[in-house]
Amino acid sequence: MKDEAPQTMPKFLRTLSGTVCTPPALWLMRQAGRYLPEYREVRAQAGSFLGLCYNPDLAAEVTLQPVRRFGFDAAIIFSDILVVPHALGQRVEFLDGEGPRLDPVTNAKAVSSLSPDRARTCFDPVYEAIRKTVGRLESQTPLIGFCGAPWTVASYMIEGGGSPDQRAAKLLAYKDPKTFQTLLDLLAETSADYLIGQVDAGASALQIFDSWAGSLDDDSFAKFVIQPTAKVVQRVKAVHSQVPVIGFPRGSAAYYSKYLSETGVDAIGCDTAAPLDLMTRIQIQRPVQGNLDPLLLLSGGDAMERRVRAILDTLSPKPFVFNLGHGILPETPVENVERLVNLVRTTV
Ligand code: CP3
Repeated sequence: MKDEAPQTMPKFLRTLSGTVCTPPALWLMRQAGRYLPEYREVRAQAGSFLGLCYNPDLAAEVTLQPVRRFGFDAAIIFSDILVVPHALGQRVEFLDGEGPRLDPVTNAKAVSSLSPDRARTCFDPVYEAIRKTVGRLESQTPLIGFCGAPWTVASYMIEGGGSPDQRAAKLLAYKDPKTFQTLLDLLAETSADYLIGQVDAGASALQIFDSWAGSLDDDSFAKFVIQPTAKVVQRVKAVHSQVPVIGFPRGSAAYYSKYLSETGVDAIGCDTAAPLDLMTRIQIQRPVQGNLDPLLLLSGGDAMERRVRAILDTLSPKPFVFNLGHGILPETPVENVERLVNLVRTTV
């Protein structure tokens, strides 16, 4: 473990640098979202979801909402992993209640028509939202910037939306590896530039979401998850060597140790299916974050309390950030989030 970080550093950043903090730092994936009435109000005002992502004032406002309400130890900039394909020129739509829809990118021609130059200017409103947010946050609440990992974003781009098995993305990867690799490389470069821009604008930690990392064999995991993520991390660290990066390779507990050592991320976000004893072993290597089941948070009650206590007992003796194992669900009662915050703050 590294030397103790100074007490003046925010708890979340101290934890990521390897210091044990008691009670642990706490934030929730998708903490800004539809479970909050104040989010639904702003969302209705903004019209479209992407309109909200690209409106710096409104994006800053919804980023701050959960921090104001619950006093989380970090904010995460309100945006989406699909702003990257959108910025590259792909048509992206968010239909209410149906999730994202994209015009699928299925061949070399479609990949070559994506424009990294266009992307650069498209990100400006996100950077502006970050500047506005950081200006309004207290110094003890750092802002997390983020992007999707190349594999997860590529799978949305190729499928044209979410899919249970990433069938179209895998078939393209297996049948036309050159085109697929070109897309992964383009995404790694664009995403790294995007993360660098977010740090330049004021983000003080980063998270890379690889939501579909769990569906690959070990060879493909190395090629599609580890290598492109390592490329993103290297490019970011070449410019901002000190910024901590959290990787979230969902559904890949079997590969955590390899992922940590080969991608160069500073900490790992663990999903709900990661066993706590495995997480404690990983903590010897790096800080971990996670992994309460979002459905336990939705249910609340004794079942949630028992599990929160088990997580805290097991993980808080070593560097640990309390979080969910995946994003908060829109139907989650606000009272359950209040209860969770209370438990985490008072149990240890
Ligand atoms: O965490 C935060 O509060 C920051 C904002 C954030 C959003 N999406 C806002 C959002 C973050 C970090 C994301 C990441 C994201 N987006 C991921 C990776 C994490 C994960 O959940 O696996 C993925 C795969 C996406 C793609 C995406 N965006 C989907 C599949 C959907 C539809 C599903 C749904 O919940 O409706 C979105 C839309 C989206 N992104 C919403 C929010 C608040 C809901 C849309 C709305 O408010 O109308």
